[in-house]
Amino acid sequence: MGRNVEEKIDWDEIWKRKIEEATFRSSAKDVNARARIWDKSMRGNIDSGYVDELLGSMNLLPDLTALDVGCGSGFVAIPMAKRVRSVTALDQAPNMLDLTREYAAANDVLNLSTINKDWLQVEIGRDIELHDIVLASRCLQTTELRRFLLQMDKAAKKQCFIAWGAGARDDDAEICNALDIVYKPPPSYMVVFNLLFEMGILANIEIHPRPITRWYLDLDEAVFSLLRGRSMEKSAIETLKTYYQKHLTFRDGRYWRVIREPWALISWTKRD
Ligand SMILES: C[S@@+](CC[C@H](N)C(=O)[O-])C[C@H]1O[C@@H](n2cnc3c(N)ncnc32)[C@H](O)[C@@H]1O
Repeated sequence: MGRNVEEKIDWDEIWKRKIEEATFRSSAKDVNARARIWDKSMRGNIDSGYVDELLGSMNLLPDLTALDVGCGSGFVAIPMAKRVRSVTALDQAPNMLDLTREYAAANDVLNLSTINKDWLQVEIGRDIELHDIVLASRCLQTTELRRFLLQMDKAAKKQCFIAWGAGARDDDAEICNALDIVYKPPPSYMVVFNLLFEMGILANIEIHPRPITRWYLDLDEAVFSLLRGRSMEKSAIETLKTYYQKHLTFRDGRYWRVIREPWALISWTKRD
């Protein structure tokens, strides 16, 4: 199944190269060290609607068990836990899992457990049991995509879901524009789709193109949000503030912008 002319293209290798070349990359160590800053920058705005859109597209049912791979601070895992029987939230960054547990407690979510492991190192069936559905939301920072996907497929009893970018991110492109550096985006969802096809998995794709409107109280907040937990030289931060002073719309005491961040939901049903 899934074999034709595309089989000559090594999608796994293309993914690896593009991840390695991407302008913005964070190591697992960086992600862990900057977990609280990342979480704050993501939460500090009007809700983008991403989580509601994602969960709405997944047709969740109250009797399902779900595994959230690369759960981060629980943006998706916690609201998902309110719609399913139980959620296992897995991340390689212990500081992210601390946040997930904090938010779960604050939201009275009791049907969520956490696992601190690198997904690529997990032995399915030993370290983790099979779950009805397996989700990987915004967490394909891996250089080993094929292995990551195989693990997902193996861990799922019913369905797998992947949410990933469907084009260049406006905000990252703007940072590069402002700092006069070349923007190399991470690989897109199409590589994932093609690799799945090559692996014999026929996936569905749903594109979510909706632009997001965001506001910030001041330029410090705008730049903080833009950086999403990444560190940058003071001089670069000043350059970004100057750029935003010019490019954001100031109205009603706030700085406004529209971000185009199209994303794709890739899903597949487990074969018997
Ligand atoms: C950008 S965050 C996304 C968090 C959450 N899924 C969301 O959509 O808000 C990516 C998370 O994936 C985790 N991650 C990336 N690769 C991973 C791997 N191989 N194993 C476990 N966690 C991983 C990172 O540690 C990070 O917390």
